[in-house]
Amino acid sequence: MTTAMLHAQGVRKHFGKLEVLKGIDLMVERGQVCCLLGPSGSGKSTFLRCINHLEKIDAGLLAVEGDLVGYRRHGNKLLELREREVAERRRDIGMVFQRFNLFPHMTALGNVMEAPLSVAGVSRSQAREDAERLLAQVGLADRAGHYPAELSGGQQQRVAIARALAMKPKLMLFDEPTSALDPELVGDVLDVMRRLAADGMTMIVVTHEIGFAREVGDTAVFMDEGVVIEAGDPRRVLVDPEHERTRAFLSKVL
Ligand SMILES: Nc1ncnc2c1ncn2[C@@H]1O[C@H](COP(=O)(O)OP(=O)(O)OP(=O)(O)O)[C@@H](O)[C@H]1O
Ligand SMILES: [Mg+2]
Repeated sequence: MTTAMLHAQGVRKHFGKLEVLKGIDLMVERGQVCCLLGPSGSGKSTFLRCINHLEKIDAGLLAVEGDLVGYRRHGNKLLELREREVAERRRDIGMVFQRFNLFPHMTALGNVMEAPLSVAGVSRSQAREDAERLLAQVGLADRAGHYPAELSGGQQQRVAIARALAMKPKLMLFDEPTSALDPELVGDVLDVMRRLAADGMTMIVVTHEIGFAREVGDTAVFMDEGVVIEAGDPRRVLVDPEHERTRAFLSKVL
């Protein structure tokens, strides 16, 4: 295993008889943005969930900065980490979902302060200062006191990004962060992600925003039926793909 930010090797996962991931190999270097595309059911969300050990893998290896996700080596055996240790490692990985999953009874500021306060043991004044800075960073300095129900979908998603950043992750996973949004709200969220990438965050982004993938992505990975069909420079994979399946998919989403 290398110390790339993410190294996946032969990752397999099945649910009952359904084999969802059939040996995924993927390497994401520090500071890179990897965009993951593919038809519904191809295993994109499952793969992201495996990265932070919300799902256990059946075979293969997954490492974040050289540390096995969810396991430690003991001689030549792999032992699963205890839930507390898993939670510890998971802190390095921020995740943003299609549905923002904000705490409805907390303000934007409260949502961003929550994990640093309750999980990381940061002082209240520090957590507040960090949260205010993060909300400003996502363009929501003036919405800190609003509850999720008082915010647009795009604003809620930007709060969700700020909330993930509050734990100072090394790696950010985005699972179709803009696909539940009205079209006119997509741009602001992508702008925040674009800036995050420019600031050097390592990101794995499941998205069908081809323009974003081409412009911001360092690599594009096209998955179908649990395998990587092709991967490489988004300006090639998404413009002049080698494989018919990629071509067919792109003709549908473009
Ligand atoms: N917990 C689960 N139990 C059983 N089957 C599951 C579970 N999670 C996912 N699956 C199945 O695994 C397959 C891959 O699902 P996954 O959500 O990873 O696809 P996806 O590529 O993210 O699709 P979409 O673009 O629709 O989000 C699907 O057939 C799905 O029904
Ligand atoms: Mg999905």
